[in-house]
Amino acid sequence: MSSVSRGHWNSRFGFILAAAGSAIGLGNIWRFPYTAGEYGGGAFVLLYLIFVFGIGLPVLLAELSVGRFTQKSPVTAFKDLKPGTKWSWLGGLGVLTGFGILSFYAVIAGVTVGYIYLSLTGKFSADVDAAAVFQGFTADGFQMIALSGLFLAMTALIVQKGVGGGIERAAKILMPTFFVFLLFLVGRALTLEGAGAGLEFMFAPDFSKLTAEGVVSALGQALFSLSLGMGAMITYGSYLSENENIPISAVSVAFFDTGIALVGGLLIFPTLFHAGVDPAAGPGLVFVVMASIFDSLPGGSIFGVVFYGLLSIAALTSTISLLEVITSYFIDEKGWARSKATWTVAFACFLLSIPSALSLGASTFFSEFYGGGFLSLMDNIWGNYSLPIGATLLCFFVAWSWGVPKALASIEAGGHRLPAGAVWGFLIRYVCPAAVLLVFGTTIWQQIFS
Ligand code: PHE
Repeated sequence: MSSVSRGHWNSRFGFILAAAGSAIGLGNIWRFPYTAGEYGGGAFVLLYLIFVFGIGLPVLLAELSVGRFTQKSPVTAFKDLKPGTKWSWLGGLGVLTGFGILSFYAVIAGVTVGYIYLSLTGKFSADVDAAAVFQGFTADGFQMIALSGLFLAMTALIVQKGVGGGIERAAKILMPTFFVFLLFLVGRALTLEGAGAGLEFMFAPDFSKLTAEGVVSALGQALFSLSLGMGAMITYGSYLSENENIPISAVSVAFFDTGIALVGGLLIFPTLFHAGVDPAAGPGLVFVVMASIFDSLPGGSIFGVVFYGLLSIAALTSTISLLEVITSYFIDEKGWARSKATWTVAFACFLLSIPSALSLGASTFFSEFYGGGFLSLMDNIWGNYSLPIGATLLCFFVAWSWGVPKALASIEAGGHRLPAGAVWGFLIRYVCPAAVLLVFGTTIWQQIFS
């Protein structure tokens, strides 16, 4: 079934690192803390964990099995499995969603790179107002556009080199660096005065702050964080060989990703509470608050460089997977050469990133677009709506069109049994779609009737 020229992972560990690299990203260190902060800390974290293991992990297994079985990227995969049906549109939705996410994700990623430079050149000192620095930084439209472009170009340079030689190789260097940076920073955060209050906020659930919107966000966050609902894991699964152990790989990726989100919380919340700031500060949280805290620590600029370096690395291994989904669509469906596909997509995405890049202050029109600004709108549409829709449809596909027995056989191919396979089938058939629809229906209901 696989064509000779199609790339493959060189080792299981390499694949797990690349998939974990896709999952671990700004979602863990940037999006997770401020979303959890908005919706009451511990209660949100608890719900997020339930969603990761009750919904995310089953969907992850499903995506990997579709990819591995067909050895194709999403659109072609659905076409192969159900020729002549509309299921390939689900793949199309994934490609579109990847494009939408990459366009705003690259903007935030660009800011992280800019912040390495700011920390390095000592732009933050105890008497500098970090909020003003952030505003000044993001109000410079040219700089914002240039940094997003730079980040997309770095991503394209790696994706262009292919699966084993580009993506896997990069993951093998970047992920260990990421872990070392993270441990270093967490060690510092946990020994700060007041760290205990941060831990309490993160682990003691306050359900009164958990609104219906918070529930939807927890679900959106679980899917976003595991890179699910848009075909990234179908695409990465398509480079797996026939006897690779999918159950072990999926469980490793889910644990890695959740572990890092929690460790990210161990870094952010104690630091916030040490400085006595509100964890519900929104998307600017890690740029304003963290920067201001680093200033006041001895050797702060080193922590700043390491922290923003860590964010950049996390972002890069994720943008790689986003770009790979769209690129592989053009390779599999349109027969384009990898380098042509990579650079064309990266450039188109760069164009779409411009309104987001201008929406953090540079242009009033885009900053006030639809209330919260263009970037937030994109994040909301693609992250909180499109991913759950994609994930539900994927469940329907696997449960009722392809069929649970075939999907399960594909997960277990090579003799790697999925413990509690029947439970998986039950979750994919009923629980996952019902939960997503329920959570979704509630928000839409609320928006109509409130
Ligand atoms: N999982 C990534 C993160 O947490 C984001 C992402 C979403 C990447 C969807 C690929 C696909 O930052």
